[in-house]
Amino acid sequence: MSSRTAKKKPTRKTTATTKKTSKKKAAKLTAKSPETNHKEQLYASLVVQLLSLLKGEHDFIANAANFSALLFNSLPNVNWAGFYFLQGEELVLGPFQGNPACVRIPLGKGVCGVAAQQLETIIVPNVHEFPGHIACDVASNSEIVVPLFDGERLLGVLDLDSPLIGRFDDQDAEGLNELATVFVGHEERLGP
Ligand code: SME
Repeated sequence: MSSRTAKKKPTRKTTATTKKTSKKKAAKLTAKSPETNHKEQLYASLVVQLLSLLKGEHDFIANAANFSALLFNSLPNVNWAGFYFLQGEELVLGPFQGNPACVRIPLGKGVCGVAAQQLETIIVPNVHEFPGHIACDVASNSEIVVPLFDGERLLGVLDLDSPLIGRFDDQDAEGLNELATVFVGHEERLGP
């Protein structure tokens, strides 16, 4: 089973209303769980750290390596974090942290290949229920794959695994999409 989010950065639906709400009720409506707040803060801090790691550096592979290390060492319960880059009709392993992994994944195969083909972020709560999942580490039980775009062009995917069932949710999808956008947009911002 999997849940999918759109390739664009997920946006929160906001609805304008003129209905009056008491202060107490408004506080209750806008209150977020400590876990939600924690994840928001964590991803906000990762954006700052990633920008600092990328600052002044042009080398794409070096930047991808540091980005994967940042994710691997900062996100709890993650046993693999890294990249697969598109080469023709297949994804080829890029910089990563974790156990050695399969090198080539055809488009449409595994979670990575499906995310790349469908141009969508895919959250897999239980990899053992995902048809065609490619097991690189027997410890992995859940996974999230975020496609990387340069404009409309697919560059590859960012892949994270966890030993926990249901480790990744929409907040992770949102946070990782934002980080991926910062990473890909870095070259453009840096200029020649
Ligand atoms: N599980 C992935 C393969 C890559 S590893 O998780 C590092 C997949 O099914 O595409």
